[in-house]
Amino acid sequence: MLTLTGKRILLIIGGGVAAYKSLLLIRELQRMGASVRCVLTAAGAEFVTPLSVGALSGDKVYQQLFDLTAEAEMGHIELSRSADLLVVAPATADLMAKMANGLAGDLASTLLLATDTPVMIAPSMNVRMWEHPATQQNLRTLRARGIQTVGPDEGDMACGEYGFGRVAEPEVIADAIARHLSGQARVATDQTLAISGPQGLRGKRIVVTSGPTHEPIDPVRYIANRSSGKQGHAIAAALAAEGAEVVLVSGPTRLDTPAGCTLHAVETAEQMLAATMGALPADAVVCAAAVADYRVGAVSENKLKKDTGTDARTLSLVENPDILKTVSRLADGRPPLVIGFAAETEQVIPHARAKRDRKGCDWILANDVSTGTGTFGGDDNQVTLVSEHGEDAWPRMTKAEVAARLAAKIAEALTA
Ligand code: CTP
Repeated sequence: MLTLTGKRILLIIGGGVAAYKSLLLIRELQRMGASVRCVLTAAGAEFVTPLSVGALSGDKVYQQLFDLTAEAEMGHIELSRSADLLVVAPATADLMAKMANGLAGDLASTLLLATDTPVMIAPSMNVRMWEHPATQQNLRTLRARGIQTVGPDEGDMACGEYGFGRVAEPEVIADAIARHLSGQARVATDQTLAISGPQGLRGKRIVVTSGPTHEPIDPVRYIANRSSGKQGHAIAAALAAEGAEVVLVSGPTRLDTPAGCTLHAVETAEQMLAATMGALPADAVVCAAAVADYRVGAVSENKLKKDTGTDARTLSLVENPDILKTVSRLADGRPPLVIGFAAETEQVIPHARAKRDRKGCDWILANDVSTGTGTFGGDDNQVTLVSEHGEDAWPRMTKAEVAARLAAKIAEALTA
């Protein structure tokens, strides 16, 4: 059972017909145990009254940026930071545009710019406004910054048209909030993508490497590593959900092939390189596989026996091809965007920077895989995106959330 016991939600109610549903959302969040404080925009107050919002939330309703009494009681910075999550519902096209462009002309937009608290938006608008390239671009920008989205739904609208743009139902928003705050955002994120389907990667072909490689020693033994493939597979799933044609080149894992991806199953680094090169040309390549750096030089045809002397205990290794480096340094047909991971156990960022230069890729997602972080095999990850523009440290989140954020960033980069 999902609960919100002890959670503090700051609900920003934008100006749309769907504002009335935010009254039901307040009740639903409280029913699940959350305390809800509300900000009502000027446009929002045209649709629901401060009296209704205040009566339901049981708290003061915040409306003005330059409200000196409120400022004395609680400044707007404090207001935005004293919550576990900021929820914008309904998030109008105007509010999304303000957020994407960093405007801060009223209380709601100022709070959203000033906050370091996670933000979730529930868009609601006319279908033409939703489908407008400006709104879709803003949506990509917001997602790339890690903002969670829920909805919109498809259906009849108050304006008499039909399509995407109806705000998600209060129970669905409350459910997405509870999942996000309990670290189970996988389902919510996937549903969100499936529902709203910005499809920013439609028509793009992307190759993803995932999982470990197995380098044979003899017919029954191999050298492997602890990679589960969860991050790479989650990235493939998120890219497919954004509409990309995804080729997943994966070493052995226990995972199902994500919907919409074509799997090339491989075992060794050499096979992974061949499958990756064979899948080109592509608009982007994401190398998330934990490729073995070395393989056994002379793989024994027969099972090595315990009693065959000292030679059997010494493995002579040769270096494997570097897939990321090979793709990044292609003179002909280099994909426009090549992304790698840097699994490090110390000096994570300096090593990742050096790795980016050495390999020649565009972005490196640096992550700390030292013992105790639980990254290898676990469900969470904390990555820092290293690019020519510097470093962007993302908060610790589920691998599915990292994937969704990366997919949004790729969509932004490939459509810029
Ligand atoms: N990689 C690759 N082919 C290899 C080795 C690594 O494509 N033979 C890719 C990985 O998929 C990852 C990135 O290169 O995106 C960095 O992998 P990592 O293991 O962190 O780095 P290495 O190149 O192995 O360097 P080092 O062992 O010195 O850390």
